[in-house]
Order: sequence, then C-alpha cells, then structure tokens
Amino acid sequence: MNDLYEFGVAGLAVMGGNLARNLANHGFRVAVWNRGWEKTEALLARAPEAGFGAFRTPQEFVGALARPRKIILMVQAGAAVDACIAGFLPYLEPGDIIMDGGNSHYPDTVRRCRELSERGIRFLGVGISGGEEGALNGPSIMPGGDESAWPEVAPYLQTIAAQVDGVPCCDWIGPEGAGHYVKMVHNGIEYADMELIAEAYAFLRDGLKLDNREIGSIFERWNGGVLAGYLMEITAKIFRKADPEGEGLLLDRILDAPGQKGTGRWTGVAALETATPAPTIADAVFQRFLNADVELRRRGVDLLPGEGVALPRKEESAAAVADLESALYAAKICAYAQGFALLKAAEREFRWPLNYGSIALLWRGGCIIRARFLNDINAAYQRDPELENLLFDEFFRGELAANLPGFRRCTAAGALAGVAMPAIAGALAYFDSCRARRSAGNLIQAQRDFFGAHRFERVDRPRGETFHADWM
Ligand code: ATR
Repeated sequence: MNDLYEFGVAGLAVMGGNLARNLANHGFRVAVWNRGWEKTEALLARAPEAGFGAFRTPQEFVGALARPRKIILMVQAGAAVDACIAGFLPYLEPGDIIMDGGNSHYPDTVRRCRELSERGIRFLGVGISGGEEGALNGPSIMPGGDESAWPEVAPYLQTIAAQVDGVPCCDWIGPEGAGHYVKMVHNGIEYADMELIAEAYAFLRDGLKLDNREIGSIFERWNGGVLAGYLMEITAKIFRKADPEGEGLLLDRILDAPGQKGTGRWTGVAALETATPAPTIADAVFQRFLNADVELRRRGVDLLPGEGVALPRKEESAAAVADLESALYAAKICAYAQGFALLKAAEREFRWPLNYGSIALLWRGGCIIRARFLNDINAAYQRDPELENLLFDEFFRGELAANLPGFRRCTAAGALAGVAMPAIAGALAYFDSCRARRSAGNLIQAQRDFFGAHRFERVDRPRGETFHADWM
C-alpha cells in the first residue's frame, strides 16, 4: 500500500501543473494525469524534483491512488469536467472523492454533486483563485459540496493555500455549489474593483489631464492607504512598464478593448435571478462590453456631442484627487456590500448557510481581490454575523460618512467633465437608494396600476392589503 499516491491531479495545463507542484512542494505524494501525454511530459521536465507518479490512462491513474481516492480535476470548465468524471467513474469506488478545481458554473456543480452522490462518490466544487502564480505558491481556495469529504481533503487544501497571519485562505464554504458560487461572486467583485480603478484612471487622465507619471504616483500612494491591495499594487506597476517595442508606456499602446471569460456575467445573471441589487458589479460587466465595441465608439466620437465642463487646472487638482480617492473607497464599500448581498441571496435561495466573516478572511491572500480592507469586512461580520447589509456596519457607516462629500463631488465632476464613470456613479445611486426614506417606487406602482390594474398598497393601511384606483 505504501507505494500508492495520496493525492491525484488531473489536467496539467498551467493551473493544474502548478497546483500539482504546490502539493509536491509541501511533501505530498502526488499522482498526475492529463488527457494527452505532452503536457505530462512537460510537467515532469519542469519539476523533476516533485517525484510525481505520472500515468497515461484513467485506470492506471485511479489505481495508483490510496483509498479513499482524492482526485482534483484541473480541466476546462464545462464538458471537459463531465468527460473526465465519466472516464474515472468505472475505476472509482464508493467513498472516493472528486474535486473540481476549475471555474465551473455553480449549477453544474450542484448537478454533479447530486449525480455522483447517487453513485457513492463524494464530489466537491472547489473555487480556486490566484492565477498561475497563486496555484504554485498559495491560492485562495473555496471548497463546497459533500461535507463528509472536507476533513479528509482539508489537510491538503489548507496546506497549499495562501496563509495570512497564520490563517490558511481556505475554509469550508457550504453544500453543493456553494464553493463555486462564492468563487463566482469573488470574480464579480473583482470585475467591480477593476472597473472602479479604471474609472479613476479615466478621471485622472481625461478629466484632470494628468500625465502617466503623475497618475502612477497617485496609484502608488493610494496603495499605502485604505485602498491597499493587489489590484492597486499591480496598477501602480503598470504605470512603470515601458513599451518594449518603442517609446513611452506599454499601457498607451494597449488597445482599449477589454476581454472577459464570463464569470462576471454569471454574477450579473445570478444577481438578476435572485433579485439582488448589484448594479456596480453589473455595470463593470456592461462597461467591458461597451468598451470592447471599439467600432461603435469610433462612430460615436464623430456622431455624438460631448463638450464637457473643464475641471480644475492641473496645478489645482489636489482636492479633486482627494475626492476621487474618497469616491473610489466609498464605491468599493458599496461594491463589496453588493457582493456580500449576493452571498446572502445564496443562503436564501439555495439554503446554503454561509459564514461571511470567514469568506472575507479567505479572500485576504492568494486571490486577485486580496486587500487590507477584507480585515474590516471580517470584523464587521464578527460584530454581527447576521448583518443585513455591509453598509449598515458601524465601521463602514463611519467610513462612508467621512468619504461621502468627496464621493458626491467626484461623481458630479466626472459627469460635468464628460468622463464615463458608471460604476462610481452607480455605486453612489445604490448608496442613496439604500438610505431613501421614500423612494420613487410609489410612482412606479401608480403607473402599473394605471395601465395594468396591478394594484398597490397604501402607506396608511397594513402591508398586504391592495387597492386599485379608477385612474380615468
Ligand atoms: P489552464 O489551467 O491553463 O487555465 P484550462 O483551459 O482551464 O487550462 O484547461 C486545460 C486542460 O483541460 C488541459 O489539461 C486539457 O487537456 P489537454 O492538454 O490534453 O488538451 C484539459 N481538457 C480539455 N478538455 C478535456 C477533456 N474533454 N478531457 C480531459 N481533459 C480535457
């Protein structure tokens, strides 16, 4: 039995190969398999010290693993996951554990959990964030699914995860698709975070007309304050990268047509499906579509009027930059409030009990949205695990109050200057909507009753009692 391997990694592209190396670097005996042999060969050549057991067929691979088998799939989300499972299934035995470490859509994970549990196989959907560097040196890991498997895989996953203040960025998330759902929300927040920073860049460049050197040093300074985090850090670095093919900054030579792989879109869809307001996340996705439509924007330059009102001259821009920092921070709080509201929606819709404070902790390291700020979010949920909305926490209320004047001034300045800042402006609207004593929803109800007899409730009658008026 001793020559059996304790952990199997299937799929040896960048993420899988690095995760396998991470496991081996921590002293685990790892078996590897890939559909084609070239990637296996390349991995063995790249990491001869890892002592991998490499196998050509699913049968040999599964047979080389100690029972209950622990296999993590690191293949493309979608059909490849089902194909791998089908390939391994004939050789697996009840109690064996399959983990899907890819970016699977959570409804697929729910389905796989159910299908495999009928066959006695314990399935986990494991969200992994951190890109290739994280996979090798410590990602953020979000496991969900069959909880009975967790104690058996925890020693592996928690060891290879990023560690912050001695705490692994990996903890049990919840049943079925909870791990992949939380990973999806992480990505939605990541979209919002990136869009907010990009809007700040647009404001500094097109509104205040600052040059790259000035903008770079502002991002650098911000990374030393409340906005400190991985995305701010890499943004500051981007402003130091010269174009290897010519003069000036590489950034200025990059086509302004952003791509996306779809996890932000899934988050937007989940927000719509669970009736959870998440406008800042959705705006970030929409803005990628809009900016990617280079041709439409090119025609718009000629067709649409757009004279903005000039902002303060460069020499007097310090106050506007301070307002922008306030806006960015306050909007970021709103975006995270929306992300955590989406987590709450999963608890409501799918009955997946989630620990919000612990989720904030496991995003502190390894993943793209890692930031100092997540400690404050964890503290908020420690104060009140059932917090209705992150904005309502006493610490964040104080931060919002302090930054609100700058948030408003900056949003107004962007609108006046004609700089598109949908995520920042939308976050402010979200904030103001959350504090509206009387929204404009009464007018919507009147219109609905007018044209469709949809009925309305009255402020002077008990909730639930409905009325219809003769509008004509
Ligand atoms: P990365 O890790 O770089 O993000 P990915 O695109 O998520 O890569 O996944 C690619 C992996 O999925 C590869 O290992 C690929 O196997 P091959 O190299 O043999 O093509 C694997 N993969 C894709 N479709 C598969 C399938 N139907 N069955 C098994 N493995 C598959």
